[in-house]
Amino acid sequence: MQSLSNKKILLGITGGIAAYKSAELVRLLIKSGAEVRVVMTPSAQEFVQPLTYQALSGHRVYTDLFDGEADSAMDHIELARWCDLLLVAPASADFLGKMTAGYADNLLLTLCLASKQPVAVAPAMNQQMFANASTRDNINQLSSRQVLVWGPADGEQACGDIGPGRMLEPEQLLNNIAQQFRPGKLTGVKLLLTVGPTREAIDPVRYISNRSSGKMGYALAEAALREAAEVTLVSGPVSLIPPSAARLVAVESAQQMYDAVMQQVGTQDLFIACAAVSDYRVDQTAQHKLKKSADTMSLQLVPNADILTAVSALEERPFCVGFAAETRDLEKYAMQKLEKKKLDMIAANKVGDGSSGFETDFNQLEVFWRDGHHSIERASKPEIAKQLIDLIAGRYTCARS
Ligand code: C5P
Repeated sequence: MQSLSNKKILLGITGGIAAYKSAELVRLLIKSGAEVRVVMTPSAQEFVQPLTYQALSGHRVYTDLFDGEADSAMDHIELARWCDLLLVAPASADFLGKMTAGYADNLLLTLCLASKQPVAVAPAMNQQMFANASTRDNINQLSSRQVLVWGPADGEQACGDIGPGRMLEPEQLLNNIAQQFRPGKLTGVKLLLTVGPTREAIDPVRYISNRSSGKMGYALAEAALREAAEVTLVSGPVSLIPPSAARLVAVESAQQMYDAVMQQVGTQDLFIACAAVSDYRVDQTAQHKLKKSADTMSLQLVPNADILTAVSALEERPFCVGFAAETRDLEKYAMQKLEKKKLDMIAANKVGDGSSGFETDFNQLEVFWRDGHHSIERASKPEIAKQLIDLIAGRYTCARS
């Protein structure tokens, strides 16, 4: 059983048949030591009586925005301040639409606007309603505003349809809530990270490489360690001190990086490919130093394997995050890469103007996933790394729920 001792959970219930499952969630939360207050929308009360949740939570259930009795308990601003987490479960299509638009015409919507604490929603609706473009847009917008979207699950529905739209089971919701209160957002998560450039040997003393400093990748490793991830760093040659808590696998060439990743990846939950891997290597590396012999010389290059594509093609694959450094049409190329490499997320940065990206201490990112987007404003690489790891941790938790 999860321990949620002294955690204050505000549970919002909207109108849907899954409301009956939330009674079990209240029971599980109380059993795990949480303090629970329940808020119901008017239509939720058509499905289950407030008394049910009152009996289970041990507190009166909040239903009205304009409540004459509020002074005896808490008004909506106090309630929003009181909680450590606000979860709306079930969250109906109507509620999600209003929440996205910023409506505040019932108590629960007002609380969603007034809360500074994390807000999570567990959508529950008919599969066709869930598939509708309006619902998808609403969910994507909420998710890009850092609202945690848990579920829905796939399966048989109350109306007889089969498909995605079922509210997650109470045990799974309890798990997700507990995850939010773990000391680190990535506790127990094994993260494999490729960083830095690669070097493709021409002869024993010369190589082809690129301008990657490894700073972004090392900052990501630090940020993930702070969130308690177990980090394995497959690093190309950089002049940075690796974080001591990370396991370091030092490599030089793209082939060595590929081999190291393939050897580690079977046990990993999360893969972030931050390395600037050489697309080509020299076909025949000379055994001895090449001598000057002519005015021009040619090198025959052959392509390197794409490490990220190889990882995302694995049957048992980790959650895959890629990077895209582009000089133009950021979104277009990033989305193409997301599709082509079958990624869960891609972080794109604009390079070439010298203000961020390669070899600088600053960066700015546009992060895309299949149906969402988030901009991380220009900041130092450690600050960008913190925000990106937060975003990845959120998406990873959603994907695994
Ligand atoms: O296709 P492009 O090289 O722009 O893709 C960049 C992304 O792919 C980065 O995440 C990079 O680490 C990864 N990559 C890789 N192996 C390669 C080339 C790129 O993992 N050979």
